[in-house]
Amino acid sequence: MARSYCKDLERAQVGALVTLCGWIDRRRDHGGVIFWDLRDRTGIVQVVSDPERTPQSYPSASEVRNEYVVRVTGRVSQRPPESLNPRLPTGQIEVYADHLEILNAVQGQLPFLIHDADTVREETRLRYRYLDLRGDRLTQNLQLRAQVVRTIRRYLEDECGFLEVETPILCRSTPEGARDYLVPSRVNPGQWYALPQSPQLFKQLLMVGGCDRYYQIARCFRDEDLRADRQPEFTQLDLEMSFLSQEEILQLNEGLLRHLFRAIRGIELPPIPRLTYAEAMARYGCDRPDTRFGLELVEVSDLFADSNFKVFASVLQGGGIIKVLPIPQGDAAISNTRIKPGGDLANLAAQYGAKGLAFMRVRESGEIDAIGALKDSLTAAQKELLLARTQAQPGTLLLFGAGESAIVNESLNRLRLALGQELGLIDPNQINLLWVIDFPMFEWNADEQRLEAIHHPFTAPNPEDLSQQPLGRHTRALAYDIVWNGIEIGGGSLRIYQRALQEQVFAAIALTTEQAQEQFGFLLEAFDYGAPPHGGIAYGLDRLVMLLAGADSIRDVIAFPKTQQARDLMSDAPSRVDDKQLKELHVRSTAEKEARV
Ligand code: AMO
Repeated sequence: MARSYCKDLERAQVGALVTLCGWIDRRRDHGGVIFWDLRDRTGIVQVVSDPERTPQSYPSASEVRNEYVVRVTGRVSQRPPESLNPRLPTGQIEVYADHLEILNAVQGQLPFLIHDADTVREETRLRYRYLDLRGDRLTQNLQLRAQVVRTIRRYLEDECGFLEVETPILCRSTPEGARDYLVPSRVNPGQWYALPQSPQLFKQLLMVGGCDRYYQIARCFRDEDLRADRQPEFTQLDLEMSFLSQEEILQLNEGLLRHLFRAIRGIELPPIPRLTYAEAMARYGCDRPDTRFGLELVEVSDLFADSNFKVFASVLQGGGIIKVLPIPQGDAAISNTRIKPGGDLANLAAQYGAKGLAFMRVRESGEIDAIGALKDSLTAAQKELLLARTQAQPGTLLLFGAGESAIVNESLNRLRLALGQELGLIDPNQINLLWVIDFPMFEWNADEQRLEAIHHPFTAPNPEDLSQQPLGRHTRALAYDIVWNGIEIGGGSLRIYQRALQEQVFAAIALTTEQAQEQFGFLLEAFDYGAPPHGGIAYGLDRLVMLLAGADSIRDVIAFPKTQQARDLMSDAPSRVDDKQLKELHVRSTAEKEARV
């Protein structure tokens, strides 16, 4: 008899003979009659073994325990009124087991029960990931992930003419931002492959190859510090297109996102607003702002240009800035102890480099109150200007950030996010998508004393900025990020497709002609042989699915994720390998090295 899945059983089938396969979720012995929940990928059904009604199945039913694997054949029956279960989709019916076959038993003690997984430490769940995967939450997340990928594939191929192409995993190491994972070559002693940080150069070369519209669900590898939305290996939805302008690329992507939201969430996405990088930094101190709430930053450096408050004066003299985070009703909600040294808000700002947190309170009377020298640092007219500029009302608390602009922005951004949460200003059900555009091409790397590409060095500069030579911090890129509620879900750009401009950008990031030739000669050469104008984007598929699933971590939407220490706790990778393997790869083991010393 054909096998049924739990979710397919419903009242209409009462009386039908069905076969179900799965695991015992829980078992209850009600004075002779045994009830157990059978679980498969689709849900749960209650099965009954009754010594009188189904004597054939009863002996095995009394043996089954949690997580035994079983096959059961029986009749669908209407549950009596007192045992209806409205919480279960199949809660109106049960199956009387005529025949019960135990396919596998559990040996020893289970590390945890599937329905208790939420109370179990994450390390234990990762160690026994296959058990966690049996649970409802991960099962649904993986099904959603598959549905998202299926929807994307169909849309891109059927509606937009994209071709899915696979690109290599064993690649040349080309610096792209993060550290590479390296793989030694056995047949080429002393030489190494790198695992791709993204298929960036291959997708560009596919455009040179005439592919026109490429996409890939691409695995990427980056050896970087991990956190809830970063894994050492992750998946991108990677796109590249020839002959399209930035506007056309953004529109095409909005079409894709609109389709995805309609198919997965059943909602109509409004047009996605755009913010320039400069505006995002000015108003939120961050290039991926959460725009679900206000608390916008306001720059006030000019108001303190000739104040007698020494701390601010010296910041301004040193080229720093002064910004305010105005918090309506903050006067009553936030005490001085939280802002003064040692307080939680001061500590949070300090974690991101702030030296201190000055503040002013606008009392209900309208009078401004501040501590120490800040109180009398402004004239009455300047105070008026400050209140007007920050739109402060009676009851507003003004938190000041003063210092190097990167530190001021980052620390006030973190305070803004924390206070937005704390003061209940964020509606968790709201979805705000946002394009951030007009990124600068470069940022200053103080450690290496050179400019580096913010996106990557293949990003096209904005032609409007090319007249100002040499390229530098003033040069904007034709680059864009897409942000969902403060999380960067994707980023891309138009690309350089001419050798001369690419060489100019390499020079700007202090790559010598020889280094550029050595690392990227193949790309420059390709540009000589007819490269079309092109551009693209990559989405973090794990992040996209995490947000669509309402999960907190990308680990919840990846079947076998790694820990913050980049370990797979289930198979215990990474692990040592034996010396013979290393020898074949021409790699000397640490033990061997130590022996030589
Ligand atoms: P980028 O480096 O911005 O661009 O990556 C694109 C998107 O990938 C996701 N992402 C990650 N997700 C999980 N774990 C990680 N460690 C991780 N790192 C990045 C983010 C990010 O927005 N080649 C370019 C794209 C292009 O220019 O077309 C690139 O890789 O959501």
